[in-house]
Amino acid sequence: MPVRGGANIIAKQKPTKCSTRNVLKFLLALTLGLFAASLFVTFNLATSAKSVHPPVDTNLIEEPRELRGKKKSTSSIEIGQGAVSNSNGVTTSSSPDDEKIILQWVRDQRNDKSSSLPDLLSTPFMYTPGSLPLSQLSTFQHCYSDPSIYSNHLNNGGSKRRAPYSENHKLALVLVPKSGSSTGRFMMKHEFEGEEKVVSLEPPLNVIAFVREPLSRFGSQYEEAYVRTAPWQKSDNPFYLDPNTNMQKNQHPYTYLFENIHSYHDYEDVFCPPSTRTNPNSRKECIDKKSAENGTLARRLERFVSEYDGRSPFDVHLKFQVPLLSDNDGYPIYLTELHNTTNSEEDWTAIAKRYMGDDHAFKNKDGVIEGRSYPRRLNSELVSRDAQKRICELALIDYCCLNFPLPEVCVDGEKQLTCKLDYDETKKRARVQPGIFPQKEK
Ligand SMILES: *[C@@H]1O[C@H](CO)[C@@H](O)[C@H](O)[C@H]1NC(C)=O
Ligand SMILES: *[C@@H]1O[C@H](CO)[C@@H](O)[C@H](O)[C@H]1NC(C)=O
Repeated sequence: MPVRGGANIIAKQKPTKCSTRNVLKFLLALTLGLFAASLFVTFNLATSAKSVHPPVDTNLIEEPRELRGKKKSTSSIEIGQGAVSNSNGVTTSSSPDDEKIILQWVRDQRNDKSSSLPDLLSTPFMYTPGSLPLSQLSTFQHCYSDPSIYSNHLNNGGSKRRAPYSENHKLALVLVPKSGSSTGRFMMKHEFEGEEKVVSLEPPLNVIAFVREPLSRFGSQYEEAYVRTAPWQKSDNPFYLDPNTNMQKNQHPYTYLFENIHSYHDYEDVFCPPSTRTNPNSRKECIDKKSAENGTLARRLERFVSEYDGRSPFDVHLKFQVPLLSDNDGYPIYLTELHNTTNSEEDWTAIAKRYMGDDHAFKNKDGVIEGRSYPRRLNSELVSRDAQKRICELALIDYCCLNFPLPEVCVDGEKQLTCKLDYDETKKRARVQPGIFPQKEK
């Protein structure tokens, strides 16, 4: 399923745009000549990609493959206004046009034609997530992740970060865990000849990031955090429980998550009970099989989200996207393009065309590799609506600042989730924040 066609080889041959017709002809011949070879190489890549040890923030657990990239739309790419102007060298701060759009929008809804933006927003304006008439990127550029609330979610790197970087295209990809990061890492390496290095995210670089629908992402975040902090997980885990000494460096803040689950096999027996296996003596099928858990795992997630205050993630994978994409002061890092993983394949194809020319095309869409994925271990169909709403509330900063509309399950009910727009005197622009900050649920 992963890589097909000779796209990788073509990319290597054609790093810049300055091609003439002759070069193209030569390339075409070369491509044809290498076609057989590429099939072979591709096959090897595809097989070896499977066995490669996953990097730290690779998806260990993902929603099933068929759920992702399912929505095919004809418009293949969404670049914010900021992105377009930014490729011409504008800085990260929002464009004057954005301020005009916001001014007009709030005026219309308040029926107040007179005031200036600072006056108008001296009383904060509350609105529904996803309704701000700005692109995801422009919305993000107005965001503020208050460090007094989100300090544990902020990325300590600030605007200097280790990122896959392509010198040829002056293109950096900021990786957000559980938001298509292994796909992105793969694409940068194989299509853009990128390498991971520390870069300063500032003009004239092109800086892109992918973000994901927050509720769907939370399921992946939680499961990744779960397996990485499980008592049986030995490496890189402060909560590892040494069976010989019964000692732990730190006590897990949510011990009930692992009640009666003391080893990976115990865990596997919960989502893949022996009675459900075709061969009860083999665990092989458990890796890729749909979860057969009876709600044991879903109940634990429910309890966790009701007790979690949203402020102190017990594992990095629980960090929200917007603070991860912000500086230590809570303001957004420099980004020139923001994509969401909904259409990751189309977006990557369009990105490749834009940087390498229209004649650069993957042989087909399968030129975009997906990260290694396993089915969810907890059955998300068993997660209560209340728990899902609670997740939307915890992740409200991502809904508001990335202008994602709330999923249906989070819309109804007496507790309405809103975003807050006020005026930022320091930055002299409108400022987006969640309407409420995460608290322990009462
Ligand atoms: C659900 O599964 C767990 C372990 O996997 C088991 O201990 C429990 O009895 C089961 N509950 C029901 C209601 O079947
Ligand atoms: C996510 O991306 C797709 C395609 O790129 C786009 O159609 C959709 O509107 C985007 N979602 C949001 C919330 O911007």
